[in-house]
Amino acid sequence: MLAACLDIEPAEFFTPFILLHPEQDRWTDVSLSRVFYDKLGSEKELHMLKGAGHFPIEEEGLQLLVRNSISFIERHRREAERGNPWEKIKLTDYENHMKSDSVRQLQVLNAMMKEQFAQYPVKSIMILGIAGGNGLEHIDPRVINHVIGVDINSDYLDACVSRYPQLSDLLEMLCLDLREDYSLLPHANLVVANLFIEYIGCACFQQVINQVKPHYVSCVIQTDTEDAFVSASPYSRVFNDLDRVHHQISAKSLIQAMEEIHYHNVSQAEVLLPNGKKLVRLDFRRL
Ligand SMILES: C[S@@+](CC[C@H](N)C(=O)[O-])C[C@H]1O[C@@H](n2cnc3c(N)ncnc32)[C@H](O)[C@@H]1O
Repeated sequence: MLAACLDIEPAEFFTPFILLHPEQDRWTDVSLSRVFYDKLGSEKELHMLKGAGHFPIEEEGLQLLVRNSISFIERHRREAERGNPWEKIKLTDYENHMKSDSVRQLQVLNAMMKEQFAQYPVKSIMILGIAGGNGLEHIDPRVINHVIGVDINSDYLDACVSRYPQLSDLLEMLCLDLREDYSLLPHANLVVANLFIEYIGCACFQQVINQVKPHYVSCVIQTDTEDAFVSASPYSRVFNDLDRVHHQISAKSLIQAMEEIHYHNVSQAEVLLPNGKKLVRLDFRRL
């Protein structure tokens, strides 16, 4: 068992994880379990079973084991049944929020996408979290022959298709939950992922990139200068549920995650938003 080889590294594990460790365990100290637990990339919780030994048969520890396990399973079952909150957000609410005067991210992202599309000598582009197709008007069909848009919300993808009939020969739309379902993704020369990695996490993003194997990756992440990651607007209540799936991503952690899969950071640029938040563009090249 000590020589066992893991199919999935702990950092790439995305299934919720509970560790229930007997407090009086004299055979296996909790520090040994923590070596693995601390590396886990998934949502996780650790509970010490008070008064219990290695085989937790003592009443108090046993009760804690049962209660914490049932509560953990129930909570995650209910969350799974609720689905991904992005599937319930209407495109009009999303876009009205993003373009409102206090947010202005749609406009800023649109300008950033124009630069992302023009920067690299590529023929195929995959856009992760494409939403309603913001920025697609900057695709030049004389240069680009394949654009793959990926999103979890099928209404968003339908809107992309009907808004850009001039791109119908190049557009391929894939409705996937990329937290679970990335093995179908085809190759593309450039992957664009703007305000998207936050919703799948760095470990899952690594898997997506390993599958697509692009030459270039261009991403935008948001760094917050105030508490809430969703900026205030008359529409912000629509996004209340997003914190269930949101991961705060820093430039440092993304650069490190990309280095691990052999993508080197080639540029970094920041844009300040009206509400004091910052969008950070980070580009990577495959080594
Ligand atoms: C903040 S928006 C992205 C902004 C967009 N790139 C733009 O320029 O306006 C996040 C997008 O990612 C999609 N998304 C979130 N989680 C996802 C997942 N697990 N799989 C696929 N798409 C997802 C959402 O539906 C949404 O369209």
